[in-house]
Amino acid sequence: NPRIITIDGPAGAGKSTLAKEISKRFGYTHLDSGAIYRAIGFASKEMGIDLNNEIEVLEIAKKLKIELKGSRVFVNGKDVTEEIRTPEGGVLASQVAQHREVREVVVKILRNLAQGKKVVIDGRDAGTYIFPEAQLKIYLTASPEERAKRRYRELVEKGFKVSYEQVLKEVVERDKKDKSRKFAPLTVPKGAVIIDSTGKSLEQVLNEVKKLIDP
Ligand code: C5P
Repeated sequence: NPRIITIDGPAGAGKSTLAKEISKRFGYTHLDSGAIYRAIGFASKEMGIDLNNEIEVLEIAKKLKIELKGSRVFVNGKDVTEEIRTPEGGVLASQVAQHREVREVVVKILRNLAQGKKVVIDGRDAGTYIFPEAQLKIYLTASPEERAKRRYRELVEKGFKVSYEQVLKEVVERDKKDKSRKFAPLTVPKGAVIIDSTGKSLEQVLNEVKKLIDP
């Protein structure tokens, strides 16, 4: 079995759902790398700093005590799980994720969390920069419309008032931003298996992944 499984891909492809299932079924610790960027984005906003200011964001990133316990995220001891999983949290995350040195801090945090454990990590650069040595790399994708549909349903379920068109626009914008940023842009990692989840159920995707974990 691989010790490290990475799952990269665009927003809304189903990475975190897949990572959680792999964690449950195969006994892996789930590391949600987006949660770390979201936590830093939120903390930066709360402190009232300019998210485009790399030096100030970096200072905050270094000081924060970020913990992942199961699927819950704690910042300086406070449970921020729900708060950071909002559309605003995604925007804040992608702003702080543009800064190269902030990314380096996050990579260190994640590498520390993974020490001596079997981990499944989802993100944008998990297989390229965080764990280039991972034994199994997955690139999970789906059409923008399908991803927007999923995210829209998820948001409506959580009680957000959004329109499908607005969500689709945000999905396309986030893709552009994640793929075009200077440092660690979203790409297919070398050696990754590409899985397109358009029109597939979680079970179908899991079946494909199972063969890769346990050939
Ligand atoms: O995966 P999630 O939606 O939580 O990620 C939020 C944002 O954080 C992404 O759009 C991306 O800009 C950034 N991110 C990143 N690298 C990662 C994980 C997330 O740049 N490994």
